[in-house]
Amino acid sequence: MRFRILMIDKATVDKILDAANIVDVVSDFVTLKRRGQNYVGLCPFHNDNHPSFYVSPAKGICKCFSCGKGGSAVNFIMEHEQMTYPEALRYLAKKFNIEIHEKELTDEERAAQTERESMLLINEFALQFFEDQLHNTTAGQDIGMTYFRERAFNDESIKNFHLGYSPEDRSALFRAAVKAGYNKKLLFDTGLCIDDNRGGGYDRFRGRVMFPIFNIAGKVIGFGGRTLKKGDPAKYMNSPESIIYNKRNELYGLFQAKREIIKQDKCFIVEGYADVIQMHQAGFQNVIASSGTALTEGHIHKIHRFTSNVTELFDGDAAGIHAALRGVDLLLHNGMNIKVLLLPEPEDPDSFARSHSHSEIKQYIDDNETDFIRFKTRVLLKDTQNDPIKRAAAITDIVNSIAVIPDEITRAVYAKECATTLGIDEETILSQIQKDIFKKRQEDWKQEQRGKAAGSGGTQPSPAPQEPAPQEPATPHRVEALRQERATSTLHSCEEDVIRYIAKYGMCYLCETTYDDGSTQPTTVVEYIKNELEVDNISFSNPLFDKIFKISLSYVSSFYTALADFQSSIQQDRQNMLKEGSEHIMANADGTPESIEDQERQLEAKVAQTLQARVDEFRKSYLEKRLCSDPDDDVRNLSLDLVSEKHQLSKIHTQYATIVSEYDRLLTLIPESLYNWKNAIVQLEFQSLQEKLKTASPEEQEDLLRRQQELNVMRRELSKLTGERVVNPIL
Ligand code: CTP
Ligand code: MN
Repeated sequence: MRFRILMIDKATVDKILDAANIVDVVSDFVTLKRRGQNYVGLCPFHNDNHPSFYVSPAKGICKCFSCGKGGSAVNFIMEHEQMTYPEALRYLAKKFNIEIHEKELTDEERAAQTERESMLLINEFALQFFEDQLHNTTAGQDIGMTYFRERAFNDESIKNFHLGYSPEDRSALFRAAVKAGYNKKLLFDTGLCIDDNRGGGYDRFRGRVMFPIFNIAGKVIGFGGRTLKKGDPAKYMNSPESIIYNKRNELYGLFQAKREIIKQDKCFIVEGYADVIQMHQAGFQNVIASSGTALTEGHIHKIHRFTSNVTELFDGDAAGIHAALRGVDLLLHNGMNIKVLLLPEPEDPDSFARSHSHSEIKQYIDDNETDFIRFKTRVLLKDTQNDPIKRAAAITDIVNSIAVIPDEITRAVYAKECATTLGIDEETILSQIQKDIFKKRQEDWKQEQRGKAAGSGGTQPSPAPQEPAPQEPATPHRVEALRQERATSTLHSCEEDVIRYIAKYGMCYLCETTYDDGSTQPTTVVEYIKNELEVDNISFSNPLFDKIFKISLSYVSSFYTALADFQSSIQQDRQNMLKEGSEHIMANADGTPESIEDQERQLEAKVAQTLQARVDEFRKSYLEKRLCSDPDDDVRNLSLDLVSEKHQLSKIHTQYATIVSEYDRLLTLIPESLYNWKNAIVQLEFQSLQEKLKTASPEEQEDLLRRQQELNVMRRELSKLTGERVVNPIL
């Protein structure tokens, strides 16, 4: 067993970020279609009906324009696979075959590991302990393994689901974990052990076979332990809820099933641990369990990331049928296509899968899987043949289920079908559905209003007033406050413009700068901005902007090294392109040396242009990629917002107009944004000066007036540059 905590070094991180092709990364989870320079697909983070998930290979980012989620390859994996930042990096390194150089954590770094990570770590320890007990101890073999064999679990299943055995001993795990250096508190927090209040602890899962529960990313978040004793009142015992285990949101087997669910675009839901394992063993890997609880929105959301097609398996007895009718409206409401499969009595998926071959099961599914609405119609009508009142109630019930389906066309299809089955006019059904929908909206609205009313009750922050607040009279004081407010928000948006240029174009070439010693240097956007700000001694008032600015500056020197490497790496391409082009010219030459020379000049220009475009692309993406993958959540998220507005992801070309891109206008736009910013600063100071003047003593006034004079000069100068008119407020 290994218990090292490692961290990836910076050079490796850079390598990973450069290698992680966003289209490859996203394609593992989302079916993408090419659209111009970008790719689109259904968003995996919300119930998406129309493709709103954009992937930009040029920018190395993805984003949903409906729910806003997305980011760099790292962000995407963190979000989609529920991984931490280092976990996502490791995932990408593995995918793109990058060897990881790690450094061991110092004691301080170890201490700084989050609570969550420590809990996952001790669960991992417990998993290995239980597996070790099962495979390498006599009791494990005699008791645990014998039980699994009786249930016909094969070696592959036992390995794939990491089944284990927890010995009868009062505190075997507790002792092993403490000996390995784990904190007792972690054992109690995860519920693996229970505090005996005498400095020790005992194991929760004594004498049970163990079913570890994994999250989507494959981390052990909890355990289910099954008793081996007949008549034990607690057949299954589960880990208690904790910050890493929320039973209501977890689906057993999803980690093992997710690839197949994507592949089949379908998922089967069963009830228990054994059902999942036995179905997998029979060759149905897209099976997961709700672990005996009713499906929640959280479950549905998790499933919906992978597919919209769900079939629930139920026992064929009355209880099973009853269960099948319950809770399904929630799935329908979330836009899932639901089917129901009743198993022949008295089977459950576990026994059914064990006693039938793969092809028999497949056949049974194909023959018996029923669309949920059809199933419900059939079941309800069967009981109400001769009872008109019951029949009417049943119809209402069915219509209610149709009404929760979000897609209008699907609703219409069902309405038509039900009209035929029920022998009712289609219009009647449709109008009933409309009434239902209307009623539901009204209820939602009322609920919302109630929420608002409750919210203003004190404990919660009061919401923004619905009606515009009555206008306050414009007293002189109020006017002053408004003016100040406006100036502050102007300042903010000026700063935002500047930081956006940095995030998007930081390493792009902007101009030559002549320094005091007479030397001239090509200057990037971020360097230019740094120089300008230093001259006027200005810094970002927004701390997050300032952080992004400093991070960007810290990349400048490594950028130049990388750029030099990139430029030398494309020299070979240049040679090849020239060689190929020359050969083509010679082969098609008409014999006049002038024409050949002319064509070669054109060729050289074309090659230079192509390579320049690649260098430009390299410069553009260098910083963007790193900011959007920064370990700091705030930095990463803001950077992402800054670089990924919709109109900028897809370049607009029309037949009639070439739109000059922002990139081509940087030399105008960036100085302009800096003037605007300085102007806003001066304006703000000017205003606060005016305020101070009102109450200043005569001595103070002198100083203030002098400063005011200075500011006036600055304003005038800036106004010449920004083209704005200076209006001196009347004193
Ligand atoms: N379950 C649970 N806690 C319990 C009982 C049940 O978490 N006290 C969950 C388990 O995930 C279990 C599922 O509900 O697998 C279904 O329960 P049940 O039908 O009682 O168990 P089976 O899966 O049929 O268990 P077995 O076949 O091992 O008897
Ligand atoms: Mn069972």
